[in-house]
Amino acid sequence: MKRLISVTAALCLLCACSLNEAQGEKNTAKKENPPKEVKKEKEDAAQDDLVLEAAYFNEINEVDGKKVILNPENILSLMNKEFYLPADYAPNDLVRPNVAFSFGDEDVEKSYMRREAAEALENMFAAAKEEGVILYAVSGYRSYDRQKAVLAAEINRVGKEKAEQAVAIPGTSEHQSGLAMDISSESEGYLLTENFGLQAEGIWLCENAHRFGFILRYPKEKEGITQYQYEPWHFRYVGEDAAKMMYEKDWTLEEFFNHVKKI
Ligand code: DAL
Ligand code: ZN
Repeated sequence: MKRLISVTAALCLLCACSLNEAQGEKNTAKKENPPKEVKKEKEDAAQDDLVLEAAYFNEINEVDGKKVILNPENILSLMNKEFYLPADYAPNDLVRPNVAFSFGDEDVEKSYMRREAAEALENMFAAAKEEGVILYAVSGYRSYDRQKAVLAAEINRVGKEKAEQAVAIPGTSEHQSGLAMDISSESEGYLLTENFGLQAEGIWLCENAHRFGFILRYPKEKEGITQYQYEPWHFRYVGEDAAKMMYEKDWTLEEFFNHVKKI
């Protein structure tokens, strides 16, 4: 966490936006009436000047045309239809968060998350409860083999094309990273449905998850970027600073990495 806080400091200090503001003080005429296009260019430049330590970027090894992530333990690891986790990767700090699960007390693989993400999940569920919002964890860590079984079952149910809009190909699921949790509510029958986004619990998560380091990973109207359907139930831990930035800028993880550069 400390490292990310210092990264945020770097993000703020090196943002061209603040540099432009300081320079603008010397020329108030320009500052008061910037042509729209210039303002847009300046905003773009500001976003492009965000920086982040190299350790937070994927290190990639191309194997048989597949881009495999060499540093999967990175908390900002980007898994999607392009970037794969190694098939044998399993986090070494998986724990069961002390939260309510849709399936009760059963100690099963899907109840696990990486330690830092699990603690953040506990804080998030507790904060929600204080506001009368009762959340249930449904599905967390999934091994490569379990993801394979989940995808096979979904293909069997709805066919390959539709299945792959909703379920990741083994190796590309955030569930394998131990940093994702699917969440639902009693009001939604503990199911993972699009309607969860309209329930009080889904709305609370959408508005508050970033405060605990989570992002809504597959938002509505970003399907073209994430390559997945809207999933109001899937929350990915990235740490508080990165989550806050993505929430405020309305960025997916893909967009975040389009805007940040390595220090
Ligand atoms: N439903 C998400 C994309 C997964 O299978 O990881
Ligand atoms: Zn999920």
